[in-house]
Amino acid sequence: MFLAVSGLTKQYQIGIATTVLKGVSIQLAKGHIGVILGPSGSGKSTLMNIIGGVDRADSGTVEIDGERITDLSQDQLVEYRRKSVGFVFQFYNLVPNLTVAENIEVVSNISKQPHKMNDVLSAVGLFDKKNRFPRELSGGEQQRVSIARAIIKNPTLLLCDEPTGALDFDTSRGVLSLLQNVNRDFGTTILMITHNSAIAAMAHTVYRLRSGEVAEVTHHSELVPAERIEW
Ligand SMILES: Nc1ncnc2c1ncn2[C@@H]1O[C@H](COP(=O)(O)OP(=O)(O)O)[C@@H](O)[C@H]1O
Ligand SMILES: [Mg+2]
Repeated sequence: MFLAVSGLTKQYQIGIATTVLKGVSIQLAKGHIGVILGPSGSGKSTLMNIIGGVDRADSGTVEIDGERITDLSQDQLVEYRRKSVGFVFQFYNLVPNLTVAENIEVVSNISKQPHKMNDVLSAVGLFDKKNRFPRELSGGEQQRVSIARAIIKNPTLLLCDEPTGALDFDTSRGVLSLLQNVNRDFGTTILMITHNSAIAAMAHTVYRLRSGEVAEVTHHSELVPAERIEW
């Protein structure tokens, strides 16, 4: 398996200890889309942050493409995050005084094999707006820039935490459709968090998280195009 998470546990200690992940195991095949579903507080972001090398587990393992992330030193984790992982969040985290192209370019420099700027701009439908500033874009367009920034470094894994959480229905579908196209055209493996169960139809594998445990795993052999999903 491209992504293999096994027996992951995580506690946070603020006053009393809270166990956020209670032995989570998930697998995702290379080139597939995985969706993590679950109510707020169920541990979705914690799981994704550990997979992305931003947070550390207490026990358990994460392997990506045969590399055991959970064994890496702090320096190796930095390298892993830079080279292998693209992040997309609910809020776009764009640099306000850089143009669209400049926001994306910042990241391409840290990759060994970046995609071409123009290819990425075209893929996200922003070629004509590459010289605009973030404030001159809609929310959906800003999220497209953040997706472009995440994929230009040609990551092996694209992690999206509630990427449509701040967007209206139509714009959300456009962004989800873009992610599906990125998966198809660039072969990027995508793991996405959402609390919208309708979105699960566009994923190969769906993990339902409940109170820090995987309650259910579903596999889809046929993906529903994001444009056809209703909620
Ligand atoms: N850095 C942290 N320090 C302390 N508690 C945290 C931290 N991050 C998350 N938590 C707690 O862990 C639980 C799960 O959080 P999270 O993984 O963000 O859930 P989700 O993304 O499913 O909403 C929540 O109760 C949250 O308050
Ligand atoms: Mg979260």
